[in-house]
Amino acid sequence: MRKNIVAGNWKMNKNLKEAKELVKGIRKGLKNNNFENKRVIVAPSFINLNSTVKRTKKSNIEVAAQNMHEAKSGAYTGEVAADMLTDVGVNVVILGHSERRMYFNETNELLAKKVNTALANNLEVIFCFGELLEDRKTEKHFEVVENQLSEGLFHLLKEDFSKVILAYEPVWAIGTGETASPEQAQEMHAFIREVLAKKYDEKTANSISILYGGSVKPANAKEIFSKEDVDGGLIGGASLKSEDFLAIIEAI
Ligand code: 13P
Repeated sequence: MRKNIVAGNWKMNKNLKEAKELVKGIRKGLKNNNFENKRVIVAPSFINLNSTVKRTKKSNIEVAAQNMHEAKSGAYTGEVAADMLTDVGVNVVILGHSERRMYFNETNELLAKKVNTALANNLEVIFCFGELLEDRKTEKHFEVVENQLSEGLFHLLKEDFSKVILAYEPVWAIGTGETASPEQAQEMHAFIREVLAKKYDEKTANSISILYGGSVKPANAKEIFSKEDVDGGLIGGASLKSEDFLAIIEAI
């Protein structure tokens, strides 16, 4: 049975003190929570990973990185390698976020390499993808999404693919306040599962968690999460306040 997951992508927000406060608030709110079929993940910036891992030690909160370099090590100024993440206790990495694709020119080809490096280092991958507004307007959204999955992930063998969490984030819904309707999210998630069944098999398709991301808030989370193929969310803005993030976790 696939797990429900709520992950907070803090992006380039929160200094050390603020990160500490946020974790404190989330921990407090989750004290008596049942984690049986649920995972809660937070993704601070690189510089706050170490301290966040320490502060979440005796809790069920997991810590993810927002990015990672594809090489093992070397002369890549400003970059962070996979084993530097695992070394400080990080077990999950977000790859392919639209902001990385858009502002840092990350291509599907590069992402395929990053995915390989992450999995080879026992990092679970949250793989992000999603269409631009223009793609949706021209009804190319299914094609674009299938292509992103195919070029970024479908070189993986079934066993490795099972270590990937998918995050469908339509770019037009990120940070815009505009959310995909629950029906639009369900339609795309069901399509993704069909594509996975075709590429791998039905069992694999049904075992993969597919998260929705894009302006998820306490007010709309329950309705989106109620859809059959939506297994949780990747949350940006609303993950920066513990009350909002906790309310979203409550909605799963
Ligand atoms: P918002 O929730 O701020 O729209 O961001 C979504 C996102 O990009 C999560 O990775």
